Amino acid sequence: MKMLSLQGVSKNFWGLRAVSDVSFDVDQGQMVGLMGANGAGKTTLFNLITGHLAPSHGQILLNGENIAGLRPDAICRRGVGRTFQIVKPFPGLSVRDNLMTAALFGSDRYRNREAARQHCEDILGETGMSALADVPASDLTLARQKKLELARAVATDCKLLLLDEVMAGLTPTEVAEVTATIRQLHAARGLTVLIIEHVMRALMDLSERIVVLHHGEKIAEGAPEEIASNSRVHEVYFGEAV
Ligand SMILES: Nc1ncnc2c1ncn2[C@@H]1O[C@H](COP(=O)(O)OP(=O)(O)OP(=O)(O)O)[C@@H](O)[C@H]1O
Ligand SMILES: [Mg+2]
Repeated sequence: MKMLSLQGVSKNFWGLRAVSDVSFDVDQGQMVGLMGANGAGKTTLFNLITGHLAPSHGQILLNGENIAGLRPDAICRRGVGRTFQIVKPFPGLSVRDNLMTAALFGSDRYRNREAARQHCEDILGETGMSALADVPASDLTLARQKKLELARAVATDCKLLLLDEVMAGLTPTEVAEVTATIRQLHAARGLTVLIIEHVMRALMDLSERIVVLHHGEKIAEGAPEEIASNSRVHEVYFGEAV
């Protein structure tokens, strides 16, 4: 079943076409990668899906309903969670209260503080953050703030999770850890995941399918092995032909 369907989506910033006539589908439960060089339009595409930007053209269907142009809070309540490439924690709140805020305000499910608290304790456990629950977000290292982005997105009780470079700047050991966490969350919570990542091994490992953007246009879509041997992708992404 299609969870997300982008149909001819474009975004213009004055003269610049940051996203140009992009179409692709994501089925429920799939993990799909989004790759492309710096400035390819990946984050802009996420902002269009989450309502932080409205598309100039096209439709964005979530479970068959057009959500293009709805407000971010409305889209979040419909089950779309995201991380931010430039981390945006509530710096003065503890890790636990960052998650509580997401559970209480990002979801219609947790109206009751006790139920929200239990849900957040579960997520702290699943993301390996229990020991950091009382630490203010501003005291975390960047690697841990990235993890908090992931945990907070899941705390909104999302069904579709959008991950924007949660592995950037991490050591190989940390990358392996976060890869395992994403895989577990995907399986245990039945999430559908769209993931932007420059760490190629992690993207290839996690994705069943990869969509490649170049100057805002979709130039390829396929299984990781097809993308790895696609000469156009090599040319534009790695700067060489296969
Ligand atoms: N709010 C904005 N106003 C004007 N131009 C923008 C805005 N947001 C993004 N752009 C431009 O749109 C293009 C796509 O940017 P975007 O951030 O989507 O790229 P990206 O693929 O996420 O790149 P990176 O890998 O560096 O994160 C870039 O040229 C960028 O400068
Ligand atoms: Mg980006």
